[in-house]
Amino acid sequence: MKSIFEKTKGISEKYVGIVGEEYNFNDICEFIPENFVRREAIDLPQLSELEVLRHYKELSDRNFCIEKGFYPLGSCTMKYNPKVNELLANLEGFTNLHPLQSDEDSQGALELMYKLQEKLKYITGMDAITLQPAAGAHGELTGMMIIKKYFETKGESYRNKVIIPDSAHGTNPASAKMCGFDIVEVKSNEKGQVDIEALKALIDDNVAAIMMTNPNTLGIFEENVLEISDIMHKNGSLLYYDGANFNAIMGWTNPALMGFDVVHLNLHKTFATPHGGGGPGAGPVAVVDKLKDFLPVPTIEFDGEKYYRNYNLPNSIGKVRGFYGNFGVLVRAYAYILMMGTNLKLASADAVLNANYIKEKLKNAYDLPYDEPCMHEFVLSGERQHKQGVSTLGIAKRLMDSNYHPPTVYFPLIVHEAIMIEPTESESKEVLDGFIDTMLKIAKEIEENPQEVLKAPQTTPIKKVDETLAARQPNLTYKVNQI
Ligand SMILES: Cc1ncc(COP(=O)(O)O)c(C=O)c1O
Repeated sequence: MKSIFEKTKGISEKYVGIVGEEYNFNDICEFIPENFVRREAIDLPQLSELEVLRHYKELSDRNFCIEKGFYPLGSCTMKYNPKVNELLANLEGFTNLHPLQSDEDSQGALELMYKLQEKLKYITGMDAITLQPAAGAHGELTGMMIIKKYFETKGESYRNKVIIPDSAHGTNPASAKMCGFDIVEVKSNEKGQVDIEALKALIDDNVAAIMMTNPNTLGIFEENVLEISDIMHKNGSLLYYDGANFNAIMGWTNPALMGFDVVHLNLHKTFATPHGGGGPGAGPVAVVDKLKDFLPVPTIEFDGEKYYRNYNLPNSIGKVRGFYGNFGVLVRAYAYILMMGTNLKLASADAVLNANYIKEKLKNAYDLPYDEPCMHEFVLSGERQHKQGVSTLGIAKRLMDSNYHPPTVYFPLIVHEAIMIEPTESESKEVLDGFIDTMLKIAKEIEENPQEVLKAPQTTPIKKVDETLAARQPNLTYKVNQI
């Protein structure tokens, strides 16, 4: 049998399909319009295995990852992903399974998904769940589609507004808008929390839901969440929980106890699965009982004897993804949950402790707009340093010279020159102290010699670049020894 690679090398008379039948080239061409038929060999680079390996090794050497250094990227929960999870996700029974195989053939995979669902339901306190969405934002979209369909089915399609705090992640308004909702912003108060009086003033019959993150993107726990849930539910509205910050609360409380109706989790954050470079991720959506009929199909069920995919859900919003999400991510998350057990609660406690430790050590050298006890992350402002000649971007780049991945910068939008630090539970006190010392050193450098800081980074594979030029004339072609 010819390989696909050989087939692309030249147009031969006979094609051999992957199942072994022979196709005549002319027979195939009959179905393809003449202008789409390629008659010359495709111009693919012809490289040896060794050359390809060197290429990827070189790329990976240039990359920054948690195995290389501290990665305090706020709101992203860049915790350590245990390597044993990789071994499990690579088990042959999982990697060789095709999504179109029958339920009978896929009992092991379906069992894993079902059991993961049960764990996540327990952890969130919710009644039903889908593992289908491929990311947090995709979970938001799924959740908002569920809310929309729920109100349509109830005859309340006039509910066209979604309230979102001004501290929210940009994907929240984007997801709600994509579902056809109008976005109404609610202000934060001086403690960085939803302003209850401002919220009350926005409530009317047209409000479908509020989307909240708790702890919010400032790393602050919304202490009035029960009152908010009461206000919304009395109005017949629903509460959506953005679970991006779930690493702060595992086992201590849950969205159901806080009064939420729909929640997404970013498995690639809280549950230690890889999410560098855009994925693959997973954003399961869990709901309270009254919303379970609207979940995407198929749901994964167990009838007491066997696991199966259930397509019989007449009110379902339909499929939100081809096949069933990023299965390998689900395996890793399930392995992590089993490995951690009740220590998940300790992980959250350590994440919160680490964040508070760094915050207290840095709050005199940088501005801290919301000086409150924080949860798993906190937000500094580089306003003072900006006035001294170095913006937050400059601080981020200077950190790279000391082998630290920069924190999240310029988010949330309500903090000027924001520097959002999330250490996670994975790091030792020595690592935290090293980072604190570097941040203090940078603040001092900016006071004494800001020009020096502006030259950073100088120790990275790509040094300080002309950003205007890079944006105007992006060179995206890889060439060996180009840089
Ligand atoms: C608060 C918050 N919500 C939603 C998202 C979107 O999640 P994802 O990147 O998985 O799509 C993020 C991502 O950082 C986030 O921080």
